[in-house]
Amino acid sequence: MKAVVVKPPGAGVWIKEVQDPGDPQGRVRIRTLETGICGTDREIVNGRRLTTSPPPGREELILGHEAIGVGEEGDGIFREGDLVMPVNRRPCGKCLNCKAGRPDYCETGQFVQAGANSLDGFMREYWNDEPKYLVKVPPAVREFAILAQPLADVEKSVEEILTVQRRLIWNCEDGTLSCRKALVIGTGTTGLLFALLLKTEGMEVWVSNRREPREWEAKVFQEVGLNFLNSSKGYGGESFDLIVEASGSTAAVVGEALSSLRRNGVLGLFSFPREESFSLDHRGVQTFVMRANAIVGLVNGQKPHFQRAMVHLSAWNSIWPNAVRSMITKVVSVRDEGEVIRVLREKVRGEIKVKIDWT
Ligand code: BGC
Ligand code: ZN
Ligand code: ZN
Repeated sequence: MKAVVVKPPGAGVWIKEVQDPGDPQGRVRIRTLETGICGTDREIVNGRRLTTSPPPGREELILGHEAIGVGEEGDGIFREGDLVMPVNRRPCGKCLNCKAGRPDYCETGQFVQAGANSLDGFMREYWNDEPKYLVKVPPAVREFAILAQPLADVEKSVEEILTVQRRLIWNCEDGTLSCRKALVIGTGTTGLLFALLLKTEGMEVWVSNRREPREWEAKVFQEVGLNFLNSSKGYGGESFDLIVEASGSTAAVVGEALSSLRRNGVLGLFSFPREESFSLDHRGVQTFVMRANAIVGLVNGQKPHFQRAMVHLSAWNSIWPNAVRSMITKVVSVRDEGEVIRVLREKVRGEIKVKIDWT
């Protein structure tokens, strides 16, 4: 069967024949319908994600951690024909958090991640999986359900931020978060999903980029009720109760964000910056302490978050249909190998989510 493979930590990507996973042996045999591409895949393909590793004893890794498939045979709670999405990070088997189904908080660091860390991914025609790692995809959201994987990461992140803020009274006099102002830095897939979810939580949401919004972006911002801030010259004196870094640009952005954080504010770090640094001098540390600020690293959604993501996608499709649908910007057939390789190597301007169609 066909698969997309990489040879980490080196750069390069190939489409080649690999062995079929065979008899599911108590697991579920899944036929891949589509896979999504994210920044992590491109980092791997370009040899920039240094922690990437193939499964033990192998040189090649099958790429892909965003997938939708159809159950074809096997046991468990799934019936043949069910649409499923796999959870991408899997437990280390040793630590308490992994044993409780939360390898996003793995304590040993020996978790595995499909298509990234020591476990084959889903850019292949078939894979076998355990029902406990599969989430049902409601057919009604199928068209944009691939967004549920990145959204699961975002769901987990917002849950974590809200948990941190339980340290104080954060809700407002109307009982919601309407008096809290959030800034999401970056308008890619992750940034937009953060904005939609924080809006769902009732916050006043701002999104920023270092350029003016494109026409379709402006429409989405208007539909959802998001404020836009062109940050090419800073934040114009605005300050925020929550800032989420989702641009993946530079580490210097972290420093800029810190100085725009209000008292009791949280800075959530989601993306991996490529270069540069930020520093805090003694004044900066004093301010950080006096303002009771918090910085929190946000990584990986787990099964509850995938399930919540499906529900949110379905709801958003009703209230903000344009926002959800305009995030799928391209679908490439797996038969068009040249184009598959091209979209895996580089992000084209204006692109949000690109899917590979395996049918
Ligand atoms: C994935 C996450 C993963 C993270 C770090 C992202 O692209 O969507 O689930 O934990 O990369 O490897
Ligand atoms: Zn990803
Ligand atoms: Zn663990």
